[in-house]
Amino acid sequence: MRAVRFAEYGGPQVLRVDEVDEPHAGVGEVRIAVRAAGVNAVDWKIRAGYMSEQMPLPLPFGTGVDAARVVDEVGEGVAGVRVGDAVLGSGSATYAEHAVLTTWVLKPEGLSFEEAAGYPVPVGTAVRILNQLAVQPGQTILVSGAAGGVGTAVVQLAVARGATVIGTASERNQDHVRSMGATPTIYGDGFVGRVREIVAGNIDAAFDIAGAGVIPELIELTGDPSRVLSIADYSAPEHGAAVASPGGDAVAALTEATRLFTEGRFHIPVERTFALDEASDAQGASAGGHVAGRYIITVS
Ligand SMILES: NC(=O)c1ccc[n+]([C@@H]2O[C@H](COP(=O)([O-])OP(=O)(O)OC[C@H]3O[C@@H](n4cnc5c(N)ncnc54)[C@H](OP(=O)(O)O)[C@@H]3O)[C@@H](O)[C@H]2O)c1
Repeated sequence: MRAVRFAEYGGPQVLRVDEVDEPHAGVGEVRIAVRAAGVNAVDWKIRAGYMSEQMPLPLPFGTGVDAARVVDEVGEGVAGVRVGDAVLGSGSATYAEHAVLTTWVLKPEGLSFEEAAGYPVPVGTAVRILNQLAVQPGQTILVSGAAGGVGTAVVQLAVARGATVIGTASERNQDHVRSMGATPTIYGDGFVGRVREIVAGNIDAAFDIAGAGVIPELIELTGDPSRVLSIADYSAPEHGAAVASPGGDAVAALTEATRLFTEGRFHIPVERTFALDEASDAQGASAGGHVAGRYIITVS
């Protein structure tokens, strides 16, 4: 089968489409015939070697974490899913014709495989961080970096939980943020003042999604560093704020998002699809850092 791999760490050009043996579902796993794979920032960070010290990889390594389509192999000990079921989930080496998933949920009717493939990492991250700061109905939260994959998920899940949401984005993504039920504002110089004009008093929780170097400003807006959580700025603890903890219940998170999809209250738009042999363009675009929703790799 065809799979996108890299044999050395480096820029997007190190990605290539290789002919490889098909993977098989192990204990507690399923295999899918991939229709679509989500392009996450972690994909290009791993490929670039940013995590090579903490997580040394056997090279060549298959890229991609998220994917969707139909189960074609069910591993030992797996219940509740059969060959032929449409699923979305996370695993490894998902930019490929077949991929093994370790977590998944059934795909609701009406959700395209392309959109579904963009859910797992953004949704799992969003639910985990909303839970970590225990966002409650009636609270006002700020999402710094509301337009990308994780930001789009955080905004909609918080709105669904009854929070009032302010989201920062570039000029071109103001309508995207507004369409999700949040109040948008532009990031950059003066954004603290712009947020203060939208809401008087302190923000109940602020999420740094883009890692844009704004932890002190988010603390100013909440009045309390313990109400600021980052997923991308590892300097946050120097200011008394936290970096999100790993873990969380990925299946519960996907169940929440797919239920909201069926109620018409959740979408992660597909900004653009790329073919398997355009994976380097897809990861290059993701590293550009301005996607609205998700870039998706499609496999025919
Ligand atoms: N720690 C974890 O568990 C975890 C999990 C998932 C992701 N992450 C990390 O979190 C980050 C975001 O992930 P993602 O998947 O949402 O990325 P993404 O889909 O690539 O989106 C990035 C977004 O950042 C926005 N942005 C760029 N510059 C900004 C700025 N100065 N202020 C505010 N927003 C800005 C862009 O919106 P505009 O186009 O409007 O500029 C873009 O939509 C990545 O670094 C990723 O590696 C961490």
